[in-house]
Amino acid sequence: MSTLVTGIAELVTNDPSHGRGPLGLVADAALVVEDGAVAWSGPRRRAPAADASIDVGGRAVIPGFVDSHTHLVFAGDRAAEFEARMSGAHYDGGGISATVAATRSASDDVLRSRLRDLVAEMRGQGTTTVEVKSGYGLTVEDEARCLRLAAEVTPDTTFLGAHVVPVEYAGRREDYVALVTGPMLESCAPFARWIDVFCEPASAHAFDGEEARAVLEAGLARGLQARVHANQLSAGPGVRLAVELGAASVDHCTHLTDADVDALAGGTTVATLLPGAEFSTRSPYPDARRLLSAGVTVALATDCNPGSSFTSSMPFCIALAVREMGMTPVEALWAATAGGAAALRRPDVGHLGPGGRADLAVLDAPSYRYLAYRPGVPIARALAPEDSGPRT
Ligand code: NIG
Ligand code: FE
Repeated sequence: MSTLVTGIAELVTNDPSHGRGPLGLVADAALVVEDGAVAWSGPRRRAPAADASIDVGGRAVIPGFVDSHTHLVFAGDRAAEFEARMSGAHYDGGGISATVAATRSASDDVLRSRLRDLVAEMRGQGTTTVEVKSGYGLTVEDEARCLRLAAEVTPDTTFLGAHVVPVEYAGRREDYVALVTGPMLESCAPFARWIDVFCEPASAHAFDGEEARAVLEAGLARGLQARVHANQLSAGPGVRLAVELGAASVDHCTHLTDADVDALAGGTTVATLLPGAEFSTRSPYPDARRLLSAGVTVALATDCNPGSSFTSSMPFCIALAVREMGMTPVEALWAATAGGAAALRRPDVGHLGPGGRADLAVLDAPSYRYLAYRPGVPIARALAPEDSGPRT
């Protein structure tokens, strides 16, 4: 069955051959959805006939957001840690152990229900693709359990056993790296598409360059693809390691040297910026302008987690990126959609040209510009053409 979507004041296709500018904008547009894919998009006056139709009432339609970096499988919260930071305390990843303890003692049902609530909360704000990491289990059983639950909601699951060295391995870091690269990887790989590591030599909790290399190489050898947490708290080897190993994405990129920027510009690794983390840790924002000027592909994601960034809102991240990181509204929307798709190597999402998945988000506004122009106002939501009316 085909469905014609009309009443689109402005359509963002992210297909420059299809419309104006890098966002491929079409004014007074329509779109035909068939079997979950975009069959046609363009000016309304040229729209073909379809079996049913939906009128979105003069609103903007954009590709659903691609949130390429989240940590949604966890129990408990760290609101008190957030409050302490807002009173001057420093973030170094040490609070992760509190979430690990809460997650280990939670039932599958508790973890599943939190995970599903967060995915629904994201959909309600326009997100249609989400990556989900493990990293709050840190035992063979708990990491595999977290990934099994994550795989219930997304194909983009990421094994992050190397999130921090858990407290029971204090003073025995090499034993923990051996566990992660051995039995833990073996148990988790069937549920994971990606391998990740928190590479941050400045944090006593995270992993240095050599440890990160061992983790990523083991994951690659087991058939997973790489993505990396790097350069969040300080400049370090993580960004260059990610580029060298051909990682799809290196995430945070808050503290970069010129050599890091040159490496990114010469490689294929996407730089994924997570402004919710800087907001929630009261840290300086990454310099997106510097990366874009060097020709680096930039993505935006929420990093949704209970410690460093407890937001599920891509529009909030877009507003921060525009106001605080030197991005234009066009660049920020592209980074939150097509950029996220590049970071996940998902050519099927992040655009609304023919052949793309019909993952639409509708804005209670006439233009994409309102995403940053009306910060904090819930104007975006995912639209499922199969189940939303009115129909004719
Ligand atoms: O991406 N940096 C490491 N991991 C998460 C934070 C996790 C936490 O604080 O619970 C991040 O910011
Ligand atoms: Fe993260």
